[in-house]
Amino acid sequence: MPIKNVNPFQDPLEHMRPEVNRYMALLKEGLESGDLPLLYGPAMERLPGQWRPHLAEHMGETPRELILEIGSHFGEVILKMAADHPDTAFIGMDITFKRVVKLAQKAQSLAHKNLLSVLCNAKALDQVFADGELDGIFIFFPDPWVQKKRQMKNRLVNKAFVETLHRKLKPGGFFWFKTDCEPYYADVCDSFQDRLWTANETRHGLPSEIYTSRFERLFHEQGLPRHEFCWIAKESIRTDL
Ligand SMILES: C[S@@+](CC[C@H](N)C(=O)[O-])C[C@H]1O[C@@H](n2cnc3c(N)ncnc32)[C@H](O)[C@@H]1O
Repeated sequence: MPIKNVNPFQDPLEHMRPEVNRYMALLKEGLESGDLPLLYGPAMERLPGQWRPHLAEHMGETPRELILEIGSHFGEVILKMAADHPDTAFIGMDITFKRVVKLAQKAQSLAHKNLLSVLCNAKALDQVFADGELDGIFIFFPDPWVQKKRQMKNRLVNKAFVETLHRKLKPGGFFWFKTDCEPYYADVCDSFQDRLWTANETRHGLPSEIYTSRFERLFHEQGLPRHEFCWIAKESIRTDL
């Protein structure tokens, strides 16, 4: 079940009975007991600008980089990244109770101290992270795949969101995008301006063929095309001086 509220600091369980959905109950227990590496709602309010020290507490060292996956699903990609790069901190963000709990449970059972599962709508990215806080952001196979033009407003990645991505990344930070949907890919590419971004294939040492997602394999099996791109944020030059 996805969360309804976009306000990231509001408790999504506020007007709900956790017993209705077992993952709501597990989410609440996991946060309150501190047993699961997950966060949501008011517990995130103090974290913009503080994600790195927060994760350092869990890791026992300051993370080399801080990387966010939007739409982490059941965590196939981010769990592998966390295992391969124990000195980097990873945050998996999703909007369903079940996926956030499952990712946290897997991170805990694999003893990945560098991974945090977060229940949050990525539309609130601007509120959740301070400017320049992230070294990398990736989104693989986001929905919705729109059938009609009027549904395009539901897409997460648009011009305004790309501006937010640029602000949240450090200069030199990456945004990595994969999709099967060519029109979505084309629109996203159009949103990246040369003034602020440069195309790059290195992805901070995260090879695309190693980090393939569940949807990517599904589409590959169906013989569907795959489109991807990685952009590096340039330092923005103020034009108002
Ligand atoms: C199509 S699935 C792709 C999952 C995975 N990235 C993959 O490639 O296999 C999209 C995922 O994004 C999540 N999602 C959709 N809208 C979101 C939003 N606004 N913020 C965060 N996650 C979102 C969904 O719950 C789902 O887990």
